[in-house]
Amino acid sequence: MLTVIGILISYLIGSISFSILIAKWVKGIDIRNHGSGNAGATNTLRILGKGPAIAVFLLDIAKGVAAVMIGSLLASDDWTPVLCGLAAIAGHNWPIWFGFKGGKGIATTVGVIMSLALVPALIAGVIAIISIVITRFVSLGSLIFAALTPVFIWLMDKSMPLLWASLIICLFAFLRHRSNIVKLLQGNENKLGVRKG
Ligand code: G3P
Repeated sequence: MLTVIGILISYLIGSISFSILIAKWVKGIDIRNHGSGNAGATNTLRILGKGPAIAVFLLDIAKGVAAVMIGSLLASDDWTPVLCGLAAIAGHNWPIWFGFKGGKGIATTVGVIMSLALVPALIAGVIAIISIVITRFVSLGSLIFAALTPVFIWLMDKSMPLLWASLIICLFAFLRHRSNIVKLLQGNENKLGVRKG
């Protein structure tokens, strides 16, 4: 029962879409009608600039951290924190408060994976950041992070709940980045630093 409560609370926390709230507050717009249309930190950077984007990124990470903490506090098994983390990412992607149209879940994923498997998250994170610096494609870095996390968890952690969660998280990330993948393959993906109205 506590696990179900944790999952519900985490989903509701994940559903707080900070990019939508901050864009509304700062500029009176729905971020989902601008730029890539994504409710996330990258699109916030494109449309609102660095300050709001950093705030969105950190707050979205915090949702993932909070969900795992809630799971750990509620139950002592290995599955509850992992399921709460997944629920927060699902909430971010399909938020109940915003018509189930949210973001791509990467910042929240960073918070979840960092909390559950710090070393694999750090290694995958460094590789993802290097790829973003080189290519300027945030989407590519996000996909690399999502794809490498299960690999490093499998190599270093060996926890079954964590491995399953990281595979589902990877699936979520690829599903939510379908349009980015098409654009990357067609050579017209948005590059970091290029503003779009
Ligand atoms: O985490 C989202 C990022 O990978 C892509 O965002 O706005 O370029 O589709 P965007």
